[in-house]
Amino acid sequence: MPTPTLLAPSSAGSRFKTILWVALGLTVLFVFITSELLLITDYPMYHAYRLQVIADRHLLIPHTLSGVLALLIGPLQFSSRFRQRHLKIHRVLGRIYVVSVFIGSYTGIALAAGRPGLPGTSMQAAAWMVCTAAAFVTARNRQIVAHRQWMARSYAVTFTFVSSRVLNLWPRYWSHLGDSFAAVGVIAFTLASLLIVELGINWHELTTRRA
Ligand code: HEM
Repeated sequence: MPTPTLLAPSSAGSRFKTILWVALGLTVLFVFITSELLLITDYPMYHAYRLQVIADRHLLIPHTLSGVLALLIGPLQFSSRFRQRHLKIHRVLGRIYVVSVFIGSYTGIALAAGRPGLPGTSMQAAAWMVCTAAAFVTARNRQIVAHRQWMARSYAVTFTFVSSRVLNLWPRYWSHLGDSFAAVGVIAFTLASLLIVELGINWHELTTRRA
């Protein structure tokens, strides 16, 4: 029976959760400034990509809106206090999260179509949809422990949008993003994110010897 820190937080567990969310929030801020703001303000290294983004705007607008919704709703859904006080809102936001992930995946694949990144994006989108669908189904089945675990996996994939952009300002990293390295990179980020969540879910079993 799993009782990991992710699921039943002790005081050390909730301190860890706070530190984790603050670190993730700071990473989002860093990526927002170094990737998105610089892209908007036409940073020279991003210029060619900026033109591509403008050409893709019909897909990128729904993609970005749904992605931002998933990114922002996720943390609220993990708050036990919020869930206990506002279960109805938790359910409504959960449905919006699921729809956002599916729109984000579909538009993500459409954006990558015909480009070297397609295999990686397709795998990332598949992982995103499978984890999110499993989170939804387990919630419907009132399998709450499994539901939280699948939501953690789903949000880990949501967060690859951020983690895969942390190194964007490094020219050697950026220069590879348009080639097939991008596909391998996206798969690596997705796999690493899911593995980190698995380690978190199994932390208790990994660090405690049975009496
Ligand atoms: C938090 C969730 C997400 C948000 C907020 C988001 C938002 C964005 C934005 C703003 C862009 C254009 C600017 C940029 O590249 O920085 C973009 C591009 C793109 N996104 Fe997402 N996204 C998210 C998740 C995903 C996921 C999970 C996938 C995979 C299914 C994906 C696939 C793509 C693709 C293929 C592009 C175009 C990249 C290219 O043309 O090289 N996104 N996204």
